[in-house]
Amino acid sequence: MDLTDIIYKRRSSRDFTDEKISSDIMESITNFADNLKPLVPGIKTSYEIVDNSQVTLLLNWRAPYYVAIFSEEKEYYLENSGFMYQQLDLYLQSIGLGSCWIGLGKVKSSVQKDSQKFIILIGFGKVRTTPYRELSEFNRLSLNDISDINDEKLKPAQYAPSASNSQPWYFTHDNDIYHVYRRKNNIIRRKFMDKFNKVDIGISLAHMYLTNRDTFEFINCEENKKIDGYEYECSFKI
Ligand SMILES: Cc1cc2nc3c(=O)[nH]c(=O)nc-3n(C[C@H](O)[C@H](O)[C@H](O)COP(=O)(O)O)c2cc1C
Repeated sequence: MDLTDIIYKRRSSRDFTDEKISSDIMESITNFADNLKPLVPGIKTSYEIVDNSQVTLLLNWRAPYYVAIFSEEKEYYLENSGFMYQQLDLYLQSIGLGSCWIGLGKVKSSVQKDSQKFIILIGFGKVRTTPYRELSEFNRLSLNDISDINDEKLKPAQYAPSASNSQPWYFTHDNDIYHVYRRKNNIIRRKFMDKFNKVDIGISLAHMYLTNRDTFEFINCEENKKIDGYEYECSFKI
């Protein structure tokens, strides 16, 4: 299945079996993961595929495999990680596997890297049921809630997954440029949610990129019009 179709069919899977993935399929996964498009070029990132013995999770479910994502800490590194690895997340689902971003976990020290920071995990593997669902089963804000005008072109971003389904994105229009804002968190949630919400923004931009592959262009403006309750992130063209 095409990655752009998966956007409207995927769900987070949490019902994994411990069945092994064949080495051929694992190779196709690493081939795909080695060729992800970055949001911002020049940020070094890497990944390791690890198993349960190499992670610590605050969850009541487990996956047989995890993609552990690492990045150099540069401007937009969290958004860039979300952008890159959402492409892999959709790929995993396109080959019939289940997957789920996992904020509530980390890799053990043996997997840590000196030069890059551990960012987040994606659990994946075979599922007992199905990694897909109907469009009507998505629980998402309406286009009017996530944008200054009702713009169907933003549908791919609207359906993106986000930490705790927070959907922190807000888009404004400025001729052919889209400005991207991130909802501010209260002081209690800020500590951990700001990090995940930056990853979320990257995930939603990955959906905009995949559905506009030839035209998507990231724009890093220093500042933009302020919107109450939101933080300006970046802009893009499609
Ligand atoms: C950055 C990020 C972190 C997440 N962390 C967790 C997690 O720790 N545990 C979990 O069960 N789901 C986690 N999720 C999955 C979200 O809960 C899920 O994407 C959201 O509820 C929307 O549901 P959907 O993915 O089925 O569309 C995470 C998702 C993202 C994008």
